[in-house]
Amino acid sequence: MGVSLVRVFKAFDECEGKLKYVLNDFSLDIEDGEFICILGKSGCGKSTLLNLIAGYLKSDNGNILVNGKEVEAPSAERGVVFQQHALFPWYTVAQNIEFGLKIKKKRDSKKIVDKYIDLIGLQGYENKYPSSLSGGMAQRVGIARALANDPEVLLMDEPLGALDAMTRDTMRKELIKIWKATNKTIIFITHSVPEAVYLADRVVLLKEGKIEMLEKIDIPRPRNTKSVEFMKYVEMFEKGLTDNLDEAVITE
Ligand SMILES: Nc1ncnc2c1ncn2[C@@H]1O[C@H](COP(=O)(O)OP(=O)(O)OP(=O)(O)O)[C@@H](O)[C@H]1O
Ligand SMILES: [Mg+2]
Repeated sequence: MGVSLVRVFKAFDECEGKLKYVLNDFSLDIEDGEFICILGKSGCGKSTLLNLIAGYLKSDNGNILVNGKEVEAPSAERGVVFQQHALFPWYTVAQNIEFGLKIKKKRDSKKIVDKYIDLIGLQGYENKYPSSLSGGMAQRVGIARALANDPEVLLMDEPLGALDAMTRDTMRKELIKIWKATNKTIIFITHSVPEAVYLADRVVLLKEGKIEMLEKIDIPRPRNTKSVEFMKYVEMFEKGLTDNLDEAVITE
């Protein structure tokens, strides 16, 4: 079933009634369990796309279906993780993960929290507060909180963007582990081409409201970021992005 976007249009009022189409007849089918990365220059509509799937925004036209059901509002079926973690500072790690769980029976929710604490490797941190966590740890708690609701789809908007290079590298590996362990469909936005090529089954390059490039990454995991085939994909997408940049310079 997965996620289907069918001829989606979304415009914003740019100034005094002039509409700017951020998504312009955008279509994409994402399979169940697929890992999709979305690339595109700043302002091209990546977050808009994610917010439409999350149900935070409404499209002007077209259909967005998750497992065959039209998206109408935000739902626990679609877990969202942002660039900056949005943990509650007054709750502990465990309470943050537990927050929003539909199951309110203490014993069951403890089991779920324990399961995700294990998955993100934060055993021993259950009773710590977010202020005492590093950025990478806090982001892992955010991922666990989204997963605890057992969503159909995990939507991630530059979730590793605020982390230092080493932590980011570790988190990429962790994320593949989590994805394999949970079989979730993941839609992941990033500015980093190597990150997209490392993570994704397929990479989408968004330009002018449409898909400019859509490529399956045909490299077995774990992927060696230094290999020739890896670099070929990186160069291809970087070229796609630079072409965009050239145009931006000419038109702006
Ligand atoms: N609520 C809004 N009202 C008006 N315009 C908006 C709104 N949200 C986004 N836009 C505009 O839509 C375009 C796409 O924004 P979006 O946030 O989706 O880009 P993005 O690709 O996520 O960029 P970045 O990489 O910088 O995060 C931008 O031109 C932005 O100014
Ligand atoms: Mg964005």
